[in-house]
Amino acid sequence: MPHILYGGDYNPDQWPERVWDEDVHLMQEAGVNLVSLAIFSWSRLEPSEGKYDFAWLDGIMDKLHAGGISVDLATATASPPPWMSHQHPEMLPVTIDGVRLWHGARQHYCPSSPVYRQGARRLAEQMAARYAEHPALAMWHVGNEFGCHVPYCYCDVSAEAFRNWLQERHGSIEDLNRAWGTDFWSQRYSNWDEVLPPRRTPTWPNPSQQLDFMRFSSDELLACYEIEREALRERTPDVPITTNFMRFFKPLDYWKWAEREDVVSDDVYQDPSDPEAGMRSAMAGDLMRSLGRGRPWVLMEQTTSRVNWRDVNVAKAPGQMRLWSYQAVARGADGVMFFQWRQSRAGAEKFHSAMVPHGPVMSSPVWKEAKQLGQELRGLDAVCGSRVRADAAIVLDWESWWALELPSKPSIRVRQEAQLEDYYRPLFGANIVADFARPQDDLSGYRLVLVPNLYLVGDEGAASLTTYVKGGGNVVIGFFSGMVDPFEHIHLGGYPAPFADMLGLRIADWLPLADGEQLEVVFADGGKGRCDLWSELIEPSGAEVLASFAGSRVDRRPAVTRHKFGSGSAYYVGTRLDQQSMARLLLTICAEAGVEPALEAPAGVEAVRRSFGHRSILFLLNHRHSTVDVPLSQAGTNLVDGSQVHAGLFKVGPHGAAVIREGW
Ligand code: GLA
Repeated sequence: MPHILYGGDYNPDQWPERVWDEDVHLMQEAGVNLVSLAIFSWSRLEPSEGKYDFAWLDGIMDKLHAGGISVDLATATASPPPWMSHQHPEMLPVTIDGVRLWHGARQHYCPSSPVYRQGARRLAEQMAARYAEHPALAMWHVGNEFGCHVPYCYCDVSAEAFRNWLQERHGSIEDLNRAWGTDFWSQRYSNWDEVLPPRRTPTWPNPSQQLDFMRFSSDELLACYEIEREALRERTPDVPITTNFMRFFKPLDYWKWAEREDVVSDDVYQDPSDPEAGMRSAMAGDLMRSLGRGRPWVLMEQTTSRVNWRDVNVAKAPGQMRLWSYQAVARGADGVMFFQWRQSRAGAEKFHSAMVPHGPVMSSPVWKEAKQLGQELRGLDAVCGSRVRADAAIVLDWESWWALELPSKPSIRVRQEAQLEDYYRPLFGANIVADFARPQDDLSGYRLVLVPNLYLVGDEGAASLTTYVKGGGNVVIGFFSGMVDPFEHIHLGGYPAPFADMLGLRIADWLPLADGEQLEVVFADGGKGRCDLWSELIEPSGAEVLASFAGSRVDRRPAVTRHKFGSGSAYYVGTRLDQQSMARLLLTICAEAGVEPALEAPAGVEAVRRSFGHRSILFLLNHRHSTVDVPLSQAGTNLVDGSQVHAGLFKVGPHGAAVIREGW
């Protein structure tokens, strides 16, 4: 698209037709150029089985087109109509405790249900056939937030599908027994009919079974997406297809999903009361860009101010919505959208902010900010299609995440997202951009690869990381990595077996720290810090000690090490360092590896570049409540307001943003 996409979810079916003209008029005023339409319209589009009614949708599609607004048209399959579950109750999902979830909210379907899948495919076919040639159609929006409410279903239909999936993966029942280690606790299966999803059990179900069920569940929802995608692709091969992601959403392996999307899109609902909200949404943006392998992505949903689903829904500060929108663009988005266009009058989301509030509209601060942003984004055409270049990568593997957080571990306090944040935080604070990557990806383009807690690793992933370091790469591996193989069986041969030679060490044992317990860490230069969560007995076999524990059983034992391996370096961090120590460590490693910040800026100011070859655009985002002076080395043009920018100190106001075309 030649322009930054701007708009939101549009639910005209919740409003009388007379509101529609006003909607189009207001959209034009706010600079809206795209709306996501019909996401929850199935019960109107197919009021009874096989009877379709598109008249109202035709009308609004035409009106939008006449108003110059394009449509991200939903397949409308996110919430099946009541008639479907009434006639086919077996299509409803069942929880781990055997409770059936009824219609009356949304997303009440078992992902494996043939009834749901056929109904969804038929509707997608109808939509594609009807709107293939419609000039407003710009993009397809399949379903909505797959797995948001029902990522796992434990019903009998799912059980059958799970068995089929397992046969495909493992082959014979004997192979399954081996893969799941069923000689433990007398879990041997003698035939496939005995195999179940991990329903509620007296104590922990088999971990390999749980892990396979998570893989299966992600794949089943992906199959639902694929069924619709194929229906659309067949009829509209040139219309891009997306489905909206939810940041770091654990149940779905977004690497697999993103490969099947033309455009990656994401929904981000920061909590304005979270002091690290800005860091967290930057991290989500970096993930989305990486999932799309660097291609521009779309911020599909955010709120103008409050959501309605937290216990206390704190409003965004004035300017914060605009700031976080620019942040998404800085991190590679070519679209900024909202949930939703017009605030609902009825239903469960009527207290969720929107672009157009209940009223009065013109004097409302959210409307004013939304309108200002829409008008400003029109000046950002030069940004469209540009890329964000990262010299560092952070490894994230969904299967490892799932396995790491299965119960019965040395410490269940070790959580994947928190560990990722521990590595991301120092880079964000220093304005160093990182991509996310899979362990088995080609990592050779990065100067530095961070690997927080890659608990599960297969041969391919381990070989890829080893080859990367041998070839001159720098890797930092976090504790409790390389523990298990893809079956969730321990890698024998001394922990962490797949990485031990590369790291030049062995772990003799883990000594998790009690809640609230802290130890001191002493760096080789005498600097001191603290650590918590985890300690372990590291036995170097070639690795150099960069920091040691002080106190407790690990007194004077290594905590952080470095090992020269091939032409590269492999660092190991055997604990959770306090934030300052972690920043000191990672920023030193960055400097040694030649990973540089976009800009040296005052604390709280985010600086990121997008570029086309040598032409660059600098985003400056002030997360502070006060004005800051940012030293610039180059002159340029601020695309937000067209003003000239000179080298030297540049002022950015509270929650302010500047988008500076540097020297061209
Ligand atoms: C999600 C959904 C929307 C809406 C918003 C509310 O992102 O996709 O339909 O429910 O949450 O925050």
